[in-house]
Parts: sequence; structure tokens; C-alpha cells
Amino acid sequence: MAIIHAEAAPETRGALVASGINLSFGGIDVLKGVDLDLRPGLVTGLIGPNGAGKTSLFNCLTGLYHPNRGRIALGDTALDVLSPARRAGLGMVRSFQHMALSPDLTLLENVMTGLTLSRRSGWGSAFLPMPRGRAETQDARRRAMAALDELGIAGAADLAPPELPPGTQRLGEIARALVGGPKVLLLDEPAAGLNAVETRDLTRALRRVMHPALIMVVVEHDMDLIMQLCDQIYVLNFGKVIACGSPEAVQADPEVLRVYLGAGDE
Ligand SMILES: Nc1ncnc2c1ncn2[C@@H]1O[C@H](COP(=O)(O)OP(=O)(O)OP(=O)(O)O)[C@@H](O)[C@H]1O
Ligand SMILES: [Mg+2]
Repeated sequence: MAIIHAEAAPETRGALVASGINLSFGGIDVLKGVDLDLRPGLVTGLIGPNGAGKTSLFNCLTGLYHPNRGRIALGDTALDVLSPARRAGLGMVRSFQHMALSPDLTLLENVMTGLTLSRRSGWGSAFLPMPRGRAETQDARRRAMAALDELGIAGAADLAPPELPPGTQRLGEIARALVGGPKVLLLDEPAAGLNAVETRDLTRALRRVMHPALIMVVVEHDMDLIMQLCDQIYVLNFGKVIACGSPEAVQADPEVLRVYLGAGDE
């Protein structure tokens, strides 16, 4: 196995670190000793063929799945026994592999729901409902509008998701994930269902919202997006990390080439 180490990032504090993650379903091993080192200020790509375990790994990080073995920590905080809501309260947000905006809310209102979990931390507060009171609602509207603006889709604020093209809906999902100022943003196939122009706009938008305190992790089959966006890439195959390093190093790795050529490049 060729592991190419990424250049050490300047910021190691606050990293999301997984070590020795094993996950199995009914005796079938889905993740086999996965180690991750995800640092603030870096965009990390997670790639691999269908069924490699990418979404399962996200589910372990966010607490939807419980690994059979291994440890996950965000900075000094061990996450292993924390519920998904607690992890969200610590600033971990994700998008899902399929579109997940509510069709009954406007785009702006959808983004406002992103403030529910991530704006507060601590037990109990993570379960508080939407902000109440006029001042709080106005503040939420202002912040949601700013998030839409940052992603370049403020003009669609008052429209409902079904009226919007897939690219705008996807950016809306990302605005909802970002509005609470997360520490960790996990994106599962953000370019799925988007055309080439929408994918290019998405890539630029993700670069634009990146900042030194944010850990961004992107699962994606679109290699142009991955190569343009990511600072480091992990390659999973059959639940194992087969390579990690810079986009250039990973692209040139013989094991990665073999897996992708063998599996059919997507
Ligand atoms: N809840 C579950 N129960 C049983 N098996 C599961 C479960 N979740 C995932 N798996 C299995 O784990 C393996 C990895 O699936 P996963 O969805 O993590 O792959 P992936 O890399 O995200 O694939 P894709 O690129 O197709 O999204 C698959 O064999 C899948 O069937
Ligand atoms: Mg998946």
C-alpha cells in the first residue's frame, strides 16, 4: 500500500482525527482500519469506487454509524460516544448524497433551519427549536441572507426549491450547512445531478467559502472538482485507505490508477 503523506498543514489544533476505524454489517467489513487527519484550513477529498465505504465513513464521523473499533476526536474532544446532535452542536455539519431541502419552505427559510443545531453548543441547547422572537428571527434572516449572498444565490431567496435548478438547490444546501459557522463541513457528492457549468460554479463557490478555521471534506466522483478543489485526497477501496496525499501525488499513484482503471473511471 502506497501512502503518500500530505505536506504538514500549519494548523494541527482543532483537527478532526480518526484512527483505526473498523465498521462491519452482518459480518461484512465495510471499513478496515481507516485513519484520517483532517486539518483546519484544508479541503480534503475522499474518493473511491462505488461501495468503497465513503458514505459509511461520513456516517461514522457524524455519529449515524458506530464503528466496531477505532477512535474519532475533534480537537481535544473525543466524539465516540456523542450523538449526532451533540456532534452538530460542536460544529460538525454535513450534506447528504441526495437533495435534501424542504420543498415547502423558501430557500431562505431552508437556510434559516441550518441555525437550529449549529448555532448553540451544549446539551439541551442542541435540541432547541427554530429561533423565536422577532429580534432572533430577524437575526436569523440576516445571517441566512448573508450565506445565500456568499454563495451567489441571494436572488433566489424567496423561491421554493422545486422552482430552482439543481445547481442553485445544491448551493442552497451548502448555505444551510454553512450558516451556523461550522468547524467541519462534510459534503457527500455535492456535484451529483449537476451539469458541467453548475459543477464549475459549485467548485468556485466552495473555494470561496473556505477559510483557515474550516475543515472541509468532500466525497465526490467528479475528478475535475476533486482535483481543482482539494488540498489533500484520501483514496478508499473496499474499506481501506490505499493512498493519501496531494492531488498530484494521488493521481500518479500506481495503486490508485489500477483501482480506477480497473473499476472504470467515473
Ligand atoms: N446500513 C447498512 N447496512 C448494511 N450495509 C451497509 C449499510 N451502509 C452501508 N453498507 C454497505 O457498506 C458498503 C459501503 O457503502 P457506502 O455507501 O459507504 O459506499 P460509498 O463509497 O459511499 O459508495 P457510493 O460511491 O456508491 O456512494 C456497501 O457495500 C454498502 O452496501
Ligand atoms: Mg456514498
